Amino acid sequence: MDDLRDKYISAISSASDEVALEELRLQAVGKKGEVSLKMRELGKMTPEERQVVGPALNALKDEINSALSAKKAALADAALNERLKTEWLDVTLPMRERRVGTIHPVSQVSEEVTAIFADMGFAVAEGPQIESDWYNFDALNIPGHHPARAEMDTFYTHRKEGDNRPPHVLRTHTSPVQIRSMEAQGAPIRVICPGRVYRADYDQTHTPMFHQVEGLAIDTDISMANLKWVLEEFCRAFFEVDGVELRFRASHFPFTEPSAEVDIRCSWEGGTLKLGEGDDWLEILGSGMVHPKVLEAGGIDPAKYQGFAFGMGIDRIAMLKYGIPDLRAFFDSDLRWLRHYGFAALDQPSLQGGLSV
Ligand code: DAH
Repeated sequence: MDDLRDKYISAISSASDEVALEELRLQAVGKKGEVSLKMRELGKMTPEERQVVGPALNALKDEINSALSAKKAALADAALNERLKTEWLDVTLPMRERRVGTIHPVSQVSEEVTAIFADMGFAVAEGPQIESDWYNFDALNIPGHHPARAEMDTFYTHRKEGDNRPPHVLRTHTSPVQIRSMEAQGAPIRVICPGRVYRADYDQTHTPMFHQVEGLAIDTDISMANLKWVLEEFCRAFFEVDGVELRFRASHFPFTEPSAEVDIRCSWEGGTLKLGEGDDWLEILGSGMVHPKVLEAGGIDPAKYQGFAFGMGIDRIAMLKYGIPDLRAFFDSDLRWLRHYGFAALDQPSLQGGLSV
C-alpha cells in the first residue's frame, strides 16, 4: 500500500496538465483503478484482515483524491497566471490623439479668449439663445422703429394667432447678456459673455449661426482709456504679436455713447494676412461707453456708475488668427476640415502653458 501511495502521490505532483491528471485518477481510483481493485479483494479476506486493510485503503483513496484536486487547482492557477502575463495592458502608453477627435477652432478660441480675460479679472456670464424682444433690443436702447432692428436680419419666433405680444427672437448678438448680468450682479461688474448668436445671412463670411463674445466692465471711475488698454492687452495676448496696433474709429451703436469700431493694423502682402505690420486696417470689434439708458435698463444708476462694453466675433478672430478662409466650413462637420484646423484634445490653452501650442 505504501508503494501505491508513493507511486501515485509523486505522479500526481509531477503531472503537467489536466489530461495527465485525469489519466492518473482513472489508473488509481477509477472503477478499474489499482486502489479500487484492491478494495474488491477485501471480500476474500478474513474479518480481522478486513478491519485493518479496509480503513487503510479508504484513507489511501481519500489521500489520492485530495492530492488530485489540490493539483487540479494548482494547475488552474498556473494557467491563469500564464494568461495574465500575456494579456496585460500598459495604461501609461500615450493615447492615439486622432482617435479622440479634435477641438473645434471655435471652442479653442473661446477658451483662449476666456483665459486672457480671466487674467484681467473678467468672469464668464451666459444668457439664453432664445431671447425676448426687450432684452435683445429695447433694453439696449434699440426701440421698435430703430433701423438697427431691420439691419440685423433677425429670426423671429411665432406667436399664436391673436397673441399680440412681441415675438421672441433668436438673439442677434451677445449684448442682451449685458442687461441680464447687470440685473443679476449689479455694479461693479466685470464679465465676458461668449455664445451663439443668429442672423439670417449666408456667404463666405456669414453663417445664420455664429459666435460672439461680449465684454462689460462697470465701476465708479471707468473711462475709454481703460477700454483701450484692455483691448490692446487682449489683442497682444490673443494674436501673439507684440507689435499689435489698434485704431479706434468713431462709430455709432445705440447701446454705447461714445462708440468706436476697432481696427487692427495688418498687411496682405503676397495674399497672406500679417497682423501688426503693413498699411491696411481690419475691423475686429465694436465698442464704447455703455449708454446711460442701458445702465438704467439693467438697474444701475448712471449718475454713480459708468462702464465700457465691446462685442467681437469669435469665428472672425479665429479665421484671422489661424488663417481659415471660409466661415461656412466651420459648421459643415467635415472630419477632414476638423483634422486640419482642429486642436489636440489635451492641449488646453492657458496663459502659462501657451495659448495655441
Ligand atoms: N452688439 C454689436 C453687434 O452685434 C457689437 C457691439 C458693438 C457690442 C459695440 C458692444 C458694443 O458691446 O459696445 O454688432
